[in-house]
Amino acid sequence: MPQPRTIAVIVGSLRRDSLNRKVALELARLAPAHLKLEIVEIGDLPLYNQDLETESLPAAWTAFREKVAPADGVLFVTPEYNRSIPGALKNAIDVGSRPYGHSVWAKKPGAVISVSPGAYGGFGANHHLRQSTVFLDIPLMQQPEAYLAKVGDWFGADGTVTDERHRALLAEFIAAYADWVEKILRGPGELADDAAGA
Ligand code: FNR
Repeated sequence: MPQPRTIAVIVGSLRRDSLNRKVALELARLAPAHLKLEIVEIGDLPLYNQDLETESLPAAWTAFREKVAPADGVLFVTPEYNRSIPGALKNAIDVGSRPYGHSVWAKKPGAVISVSPGAYGGFGANHHLRQSTVFLDIPLMQQPEAYLAKVGDWFGADGTVTDERHRALLAEFIAAYADWVEKILRGPGELADDAAGA
């Protein structure tokens, strides 16, 4: 079994009954045993303001940075707001990216999954997020893409996915991401050695 990996999960919605949070929790249940998904909360982060970047930082910024920094990877699960990502998510990304030269995001194998009750699966948010992750040097999984549409009726009263086909889709996504994490963290050389039985 691969070594244990911790993945910081950033959920772009602050809503109590968020579909995105339910998807994130389902992914945590479906992830391979060595991959531990932990939601890092973003709802109490003060709006990013460079003037606050002093020796007495907002405590919530420090706590957020200290939770994301040691993670092996980062998984974004986000709704689409006005064809882009929610402001709360952009704020969290900005908070984690500073101070300059000390970003918590760089080099962490990442993935994005967009979730919507609508028909387009949050495509716009998914790709706007990719614009930032390129700059932040997050090696982002390209395939499988995940634009989850019409998710409004995916969950039962207990918050779990009711349709086996939806669960299989999520399981496929998180298994591919687990492979991606190993590929990035271990590098192609070590994986080739594994394949050769070294
Ligand atoms: C939305 N919603 C939305 N949906 C979508 O597919 N494309 C969009 O551009 C938008 N825009 C948008 C803007 C704002 C301000 C809100 C509040 C909502 C609907 C959105 O997908 C829906 O509320 C989801 O349920 C949000 O995800 P959570 O909170 O369920 O995780």
